[in-house]
Amino acid sequence: MVNIILLGPPGAGKGTQAKRLVDDRKMVQLSTGDMLREARTSGSEMGRKVAEVMDRGGLVTDAIVIGLISERLDDPAPGGFIFDGFPRTLPQADALGELLSAKGQGLDAVIEMQVDDSALVARISGRYTCGNCGAVYHDTTHPTKVSGVCDACGSTNLKRRADDNADALQLRLMEYYKKTSPLIGYYYAKGALSTVDGLADVETVAAAVAKVVDQP
Ligand code: AP5
Repeated sequence: MVNIILLGPPGAGKGTQAKRLVDDRKMVQLSTGDMLREARTSGSEMGRKVAEVMDRGGLVTDAIVIGLISERLDDPAPGGFIFDGFPRTLPQADALGELLSAKGQGLDAVIEMQVDDSALVARISGRYTCGNCGAVYHDTTHPTKVSGVCDACGSTNLKRRADDNADALQLRLMEYYKKTSPLIGYYYAKGALSTVDGLADVETVAAAVAKVVDQP
């Protein structure tokens, strides 16, 4: 069992690689972005506030996302957990360490995916996902084989995210550099950090991620 964090800016390819690991290794993806997108459809006051913050490109409060992750750590995960988009702040990183150690678990690797800002804009502006199974596509680099139909599950419910626009992306990037990038030093100091070139093609990135996951 291996627990890993995929760390990187918006559009670095965290979700794409997480889904590969789920398919190949029976790991469980814990994406706080996906959990929050689900919460916002609940119609609750909390969901309304979450939607407003996400659409702007800001970060949701630590208490909310730590609560969401905490609820999921008892799920069966024989292959281990992939933390995708969590932690994003130093308090979240501390909380994750405490939650895992309370369950007698630890973190095996933190994989930083490095991608230039210019590539991130191109990736985010072309992204669409399957609303049924979560498969991730791109207008030019990875379109569906049949236009409008998900390759993985055949659903025609393909959609674009409300925060995948130029204004929200600018704030998402600022939030990443101000609040999330300090985690690179945090995990380096703990001896847990590995870096992969996220600019390479999806297969090459997957091979680099697999090498880290398989290291003793
Ligand atoms: P979240 O959903 O986590 O979004 P994000 O971190 O901004 O990351 P993305 O999902 O945009 O990108 P990704 O790295 O997964 O890239 P992907 O694989 O899709 O968070 C959304 C919001 O929720 C936040 O802004 C915040 O408001 C809130 N939130 C979430 N977690 C939070 C937390 N912990 N604390 C507080 N707030 C939180 O790939 C992108 C595109 O590139 C795709 O089209 C894909 O096909 C393509 N692509 C992928 N890899 C490659 C490659 N190697 N080569 C070419 N194209 C590629």
